[in-house]
Amino acid sequence: MNYRHAFHAGNAADVMKHAALARVLVHLAKKDTPFRVIDTHAGAGIYDLSGASAQKTGEAEAGIERVLEANLPAPAAELLAPYLDTVRRMRAEGGARLYPGSPALALALSRPQDRFVFCELHKEEKAKLERRIGEDARAKVMVQDGWHAVKAHLPPRERRGLLLVDPPFEEQGEFGRLVEALEAAHERFAHGIAMIWYPIKDLRAVDAFRRDVARLRMPKTLKVELDFAEVRSLDSLSGSGLIIVNPPFTLQEEMRIILSALSPLLAHDGKGRSRVSWLVPE
Ligand SMILES: C[S@@+](CC[C@H](N)C(=O)[O-])C[C@H]1O[C@@H](n2cnc3c(N)ncnc32)[C@H](O)[C@@H]1O
Repeated sequence: MNYRHAFHAGNAADVMKHAALARVLVHLAKKDTPFRVIDTHAGAGIYDLSGASAQKTGEAEAGIERVLEANLPAPAAELLAPYLDTVRRMRAEGGARLYPGSPALALALSRPQDRFVFCELHKEEKAKLERRIGEDARAKVMVQDGWHAVKAHLPPRERRGLLLVDPPFEEQGEFGRLVEALEAAHERFAHGIAMIWYPIKDLRAVDAFRRDVARLRMPKTLKVELDFAEVRSLDSLSGSGLIIVNPPFTLQEEMRIILSALSPLLAHDGKGRSRVSWLVPE
């Protein structure tokens, strides 16, 4: 396990993922009844983008920093406000270059009645996560293999909520494990929202993965993809994607508006392409 998210926090892929995560949380918080978030690969929770790791790659400069400085069109700015205001508030309170990972964002956009399970297999990252989210009694932080967490924590007691699966993609076979995770999630929590992240590097592998997901015959499933760099080799990241099962009914249109504003900002060539479409229609 060599992957450290601190090198990549706030990059273009993180911005797209966290923008979608924030919209899902806003939707879940519309009903008073509690929800639960199960984040299988949680990371360190909060990142300091002025730290050596983030500075080494400079990825956040072409990601969140660019977005925070941009004059966004009003509809996109409105939809992104919960996410971007969380970043701004965190910076105002804790430091100029802080950035919330998925756990901090989820906690910030939820209510006292909501609950959280954060799994992080790397012990140092788990310790950071515990320190960073502090004594929030709503959250349970576990050193647990995220792939086992899907079966262990579903269905949630609250019967509503989100499964987030965001693996590092440093091992072979992770596309296959994502398909298995989706299948297991559907068996246990058929009406729940599941959101999984994947890298766009090897286009054939991504294509096979999309087909495998479509074959699962899940409930309505949205595919959101953003290309932000040229396809150079099978190892270089040219974009990233999200599969969202049972998305809030407004999410397709919301992500279209968000990505039409963000694609040109996040793409290396200033253009960028995004795709928001149904992998499994209603
Ligand atoms: C892409 S990062 C997560 C980023 C985080 N979800 C966010 O959006 O801020 C993936 C994390 O998974 C952890 N990890 C790797 N293998 C794991 C496993 N089998 N189970 C749980 N966590 C794992 C890594 O240590 C890393 O912190």
